[in-house]
This record gives sequence, C-alpha cells and structure tokens, in this order.
Amino acid sequence: MVQEKKDPDMTGREEYGSSKEEGIHSVEFATHPPAPSKISRDDFNVTPWEVVGSVDYSNLIEKFGTFPINEFIIDKIKKITGEIHPFIKNKFFFSHRDLDLILKEYEKGNRFYLYTGRGPSGQVHLGHLMPWIFTKYLQDKFDAKLIFQITDDEKFLFKENSNFESIHKFTYENILDIIAMGFNPKRTRIIINTRDIKYLYRISTEIAKRITFSTAKAVFGFDNSTNIGMIGFPPIQGAPCFLPSLIEKKPTPVLIPAAIDQDPYWRVTRDIAEKMGYPKPAQIHSKFIPGLTSGGKMSSSRPDTALFTVNNPETIEKKVKNTFTGGQPTITLQRKLGGNADICPVFWYLNYLFDTEKESQERYHDCTSGNLLCGECKNDMINKVIPFMKDIQIKREKAKDMICKFTVDGKDLNADSAIEFD
Ligand code: TRP
Repeated sequence: MVQEKKDPDMTGREEYGSSKEEGIHSVEFATHPPAPSKISRDDFNVTPWEVVGSVDYSNLIEKFGTFPINEFIIDKIKKITGEIHPFIKNKFFFSHRDLDLILKEYEKGNRFYLYTGRGPSGQVHLGHLMPWIFTKYLQDKFDAKLIFQITDDEKFLFKENSNFESIHKFTYENILDIIAMGFNPKRTRIIINTRDIKYLYRISTEIAKRITFSTAKAVFGFDNSTNIGMIGFPPIQGAPCFLPSLIEKKPTPVLIPAAIDQDPYWRVTRDIAEKMGYPKPAQIHSKFIPGLTSGGKMSSSRPDTALFTVNNPETIEKKVKNTFTGGQPTITLQRKLGGNADICPVFWYLNYLFDTEKESQERYHDCTSGNLLCGECKNDMINKVIPFMKDIQIKREKAKDMICKFTVDGKDLNADSAIEFD
C-alpha cells in the first residue's frame, strides 16, 4: 500500500529534516533501547523504547507513513456516532492507518475488534489513562470486543535489572486500573503474555516465521548485542492483531488505539497480514504524554515526574505544586512577557484532559499575555485531578473482586497449575 512505501525499509529511524517545535513529550518506556538513538542537533527520534528530542508530529506522520485524522474521517465518525470525542477534537489522537476502512466496513455491518495493551513496568499514571479512556469510549460507541494485552515478558526482556516478582506485582496493580476504566467485562479479555501464552503462541510462531532478522534489525534497531528474547518478542505483540479472526472464525478487522511509538510493531504485522489471510490491523495513534519536570520525561522510576493513580491527594497536590511550567522566573516578568503555554505540562494536561475547548483557548490567551500566573493554573489542575483520581481509586478497590471476569479463562491471576506427577 502507498503509505507503507513512504518508508520502504520500515525503519522510521532515518535522519529527520529540520523539525518545527510541536510541544512536549515523554519517555514512557524506562527500558534500555536496543540501539543507540540516531538524532542530530535539533532532531527527535521515536522507537517503542525511547522518545528523544522535541517531537514534530506532522513530521512523524510523514516519516512513519501514517495519515492525519482529517475532516473526512472526522465527518465519518460524526455520521456514525453523532459526536466527536474531545481527544479527537483536540488532536490528542492525531494520526491513523486504515481508520477509514474500519468505518466503511462498520457501516456495511462488519464489526471490528479493539486491541490495546500495557507493559507493566510500574504504577499507572494520569497519562497512561488517556488512551484507555478513549478505548473504553470506542468500545461503548461501537459495541466492540476488546483484547487487552499485558506484555510482562516485554518488560522483563527489555528492562535492565527487571525481575518477574515486581513485574507480576505491577501486572496485578495495572489490571486494577484497566478494570477501573469501566471496560465491559462481557466484551473485554485481558491477555497476560506469560500466563496466557497458549492463546498467542501458535499465531505468533506463524508471524515469526515470516519476519527475518534483517527486517527486525531495520525496524527495531536490534543488533548483535541484543538479547534473543527481545529479537523474538515482536510477533507476540503482533499476535493479538490476528486473534479476533481466529475467535470469530472469519477475517475480522482490528483497530488499535495506541501511542504512535508502538507503530513499528504494527508495520511489521501489517506487512505480512494479507499473506497470512488476515486483514491488516488498523491504528489510531495518540501523541506522547509529558512528565511534570523540565525535560519532559515521565517515568515510573522517577516518581516525582508523574501523577500515579495510587497517589493520595496530598501527594498529588505536592507534585503539581512542584511541577515545571512554561512560566517566567518572577511574577513581574510573567506579567510583562507572558508564559510559554506550548512547553507547559500543566497547560498540556488541562488542555487535553480537563478544560473545554473554550476554557483552553482562554487559558492560552491569558497565560501568554501575562494575565494568568502559574499558581492559578496549578490550582485549577489540583482541583481537577484530585477528584478524578479519587474516583479511580474507588473503582480500583471494586476491581479487586472483578479480575476473573476479565481474564481469558475466567480464573484468578495465580490460577496456573503446577506440573505434578502422581
Ligand atoms: N508494548 C506496549 C508497552 O510497552 C504494550 C502493548 C502491547 C500495547 N500490545 C499493545 C500498547 C497494543 C498498545 C497497543 O506499553
């Protein structure tokens, strides 16, 4: 297909042209990258393991060969659902592949599955919830079944000094967050890779046979020092793209809501899908999520950089108060010069998650003209986030009794039977 040809060797990693600043991002993956990043001066680089530099999203669309979510798609969604979700309006979800096809098939009566996932490397923070909120919305609007993959194996393999004890703990903790999002238990299955590998192993083996080491090197940057678990991992993340066709016993389209850094996985999977007799997985891509410190890194290993769903109100208040902003060093300068909303994580969260369109425009104007001080925005953020998190915490508690409703086999997380001889 044309869009894949824009990046013929599927690396998405070649030198980028001069990038215009388009805001802030985070490194969400505290993993060690398989290859040194290739970035030059004012450039940026995006792989599933690291995001470096200031990301220019329109450039990324070009480089990855995806498509912007344009008026045509927006009209189509509006026609089907009667509305447009704020995350599409405010361009948090900004890019796609084959979303038009998914909608066209849906209009003909062909239902699609949703597929998304989580690498359980730590507690879930505010930013992680955003694609999930949107996935839950899509599930409701399109009455779609959802496969939710937990890549505990990936986190073990890609992260130095990882161990399965802590990964299993975060698997449990993260599942509480996922359930707290309100996914429909009748239409959602959470697949935990090491626990549920039998549901994925055959398809992932079929995928693996069709991907050469040279493709994997080019797309993911693997080299001779990469451990072979990492090299073998991509087909396991690809497998749920085809699982719905096996479950439904007919070719079944899949739509993946995910941050755009996961795109390399879908590129290799799309490349072989039709040869294997499956529809190419479609995607809807979100932007990256900024942390709360300057430099824009949000990481579970640096707890001060993120608002976790397990944080209490005092901690949240403290973190937001200590947050880096786009403000001037003094009030006088702020009044005179105005703040820089474009690089401000407080503005970012209020804009994408809490403010209405109108409120956000006013905030932008008031900030940049010096009428608004950072303390006021921080207070607004605290007042929005605390009840938001409180609600999730109540739902997380309830989720503890609901896990069996979401596992693939209807059993508890630790239900694995040990091998025994009589
Ligand atoms: N690799 C993702 C991560 O590290 C987890 C994941 C697995 C995922 N399958 C997915 C994310 C599908 C989005 C969509 O977090």
